[in-house]
Amino acid sequence: MLNVALPKGRLGERVYSMFARAGLECGGVLEPGRRLIFENPRKGVRYFWVKPSDVAIYVERGAADLGAAGKDILLENEPDVYELLDLHTGACRMAVAARADFRDNPDRTLRVASKFVHIAQNYYAAKGRDIDIIRINGSVELAPILGLSDVIVDIVETGTTLKENNLRVLDTVVSISARLIANKASFKFKNGQILEIMRAMTAMTEAEQ
Ligand code: PRP
Repeated sequence: MLNVALPKGRLGERVYSMFARAGLECGGVLEPGRRLIFENPRKGVRYFWVKPSDVAIYVERGAADLGAAGKDILLENEPDVYELLDLHTGACRMAVAARADFRDNPDRTLRVASKFVHIAQNYYAAKGRDIDIIRINGSVELAPILGLSDVIVDIVETGTTLKENNLRVLDTVVSISARLIANKASFKFKNGQILEIMRAMTAMTEAEQ
């Protein structure tokens, strides 16, 4: 049985459709409801819905052989998994943003609020900039507005959230998209099947480019 962890939400639905097109369809996965686990014994595949930020943990620990995770999660948590393929979906970017009237003073320690503290720390370390990192779990855009931080490092997709809160992008840290990831032992022991899925998905993403 091949176990696949899908991130709950639109991204996971798109990723499941890619698996289905690769020949691993499974009844019920896309039907609305609270069920979390779906199996197609004939095809030897089992899907389960997990919180997007948890996919890599399921895969790293071997509870899932394969999964789809955003590059943001992979950069932030550095799970011990193989990153097999850019799925070219769920595209967005990690960016530094601040209030429109923000003027940086390089002599001062920069206060940075983010859910992605590791990514933010690496970004500023590469620039040799001292920062005071403030871990925030959501509504990060509030931090510079309320004076909790000078800037934020966060995901920007359409830019609407920034715009509606009078914030502007100062720099792009990294481009983000969904990646197909594999458990390292599974990649070895289920290699033929996984390579077949990779081939099918590569063909799909190339056809869509
Ligand atoms: C992300 C991010 C921004 C928003 C950006 O939050 O933290 O708040 O999306 O999208 P936009 O550029 O299209 O406006 P998400 O919706 O993932 O929720 P979260 O804060 O719970 O992570």
